[in-house]
Amino acid sequence: MANLTCGLVTGASSGIGECFARKLAARRTNLVLVARSGARLAEIARELEAAYRVQAHAVPCDLSQEGAAARLVESLDQRGVQVDLLVNNAGFGARGEFWKLPLSRQVEMIRLNVAALTELTHWLAGRMAERRRGAIINVSSTAGFQPVPYTAVYAATKAFVTSFSLALEAELRPYRVRVVTLCPGGTKTNFLVAGHYGMQRTPGGLQDPNEVVEAALARLDQGGGLEVPRLLNKLTVFIQRFVPRRTVIRFAGGIFRPEGNAIETP
Ligand SMILES: NC(=O)c1ccc[n+]([C@@H]2O[C@H](COP(=O)([O-])OP(=O)(O)OC[C@H]3O[C@@H](n4cnc5c(N)ncnc54)[C@H](OP(=O)(O)O)[C@@H]3O)[C@@H](O)[C@H]2O)c1
Repeated sequence: MANLTCGLVTGASSGIGECFARKLAARRTNLVLVARSGARLAEIARELEAAYRVQAHAVPCDLSQEGAAARLVESLDQRGVQVDLLVNNAGFGARGEFWKLPLSRQVEMIRLNVAALTELTHWLAGRMAERRRGAIINVSSTAGFQPVPYTAVYAATKAFVTSFSLALEAELRPYRVRVVTLCPGGTKTNFLVAGHYGMQRTPGGLQDPNEVVEAALARLDQGGGLEVPRLLNKLTVFIQRFVPRRTVIRFAGGIFRPEGNAIETP
């Protein structure tokens, strides 16, 4: 992959990240695909290379490990790979009462959803700014627009991603680096199963990852900005500005409250 310009997608082994990989390959973007499942990544890379005549490189990596993001960037530098599009997508959540969920899992979540995203952005945005060219898509969530009881740490990590990415967009605009802050609502992927969210209580039903990724790429083509896919999600985010915060939090908690738990009376 010597002296290759490409897109780097984290969490490319399934769900929204895999969908990004497929749609970017269809746009003839060379790819670096990152996740822990090396065999699955390699399979996707082979398939995309054959279908779209792009170069796709699978890099197995646990981004929640200390220093993993820095080592990843260093290995790309050594191979002469230039990243022009960074998709910070890898992430996970957990549902339940904060104090009952394992602390180690929640700290791992902060490392992946927040620290790894920040580190990768730091290393790669600087190079893009120097070249006056590049783009970053940070995958946040509608969960980041308000505190969410029963997935409190996850929602807080996504509040960070949204705030950070919108600020970064303003900082990088003069350098001609575009930033998309992508905030999907419930989307049909492994995420919901792995995080024990259940599927049935998402207002308006689940989105297809294709719909989410198409909205993000359309926003990128328009020059970047905040993207909340789907009208119902846009309306929900807009309307909550006019509703007391306490009410919004109780409503959000009602969606994520695990079965069998009593709602706390205020
Ligand atoms: N699905 C939803 O309802 C929804 C809604 C809003 C936002 N999001 C966000 O969308 C993003 C993608 O999630 P998804 O819905 O597509 O779920 P998913 O299918 O579970 O995908 C998560 C991806 O992250 C990777 N990953 C997990 N831990 C990792 C680690 N330690 N190091 C490197 N990669 C890791 C996974 O691959 P490996 O297991 O192979 O490592 C997988 O490729 C997440 O940031 C999530 O917060 C999802």
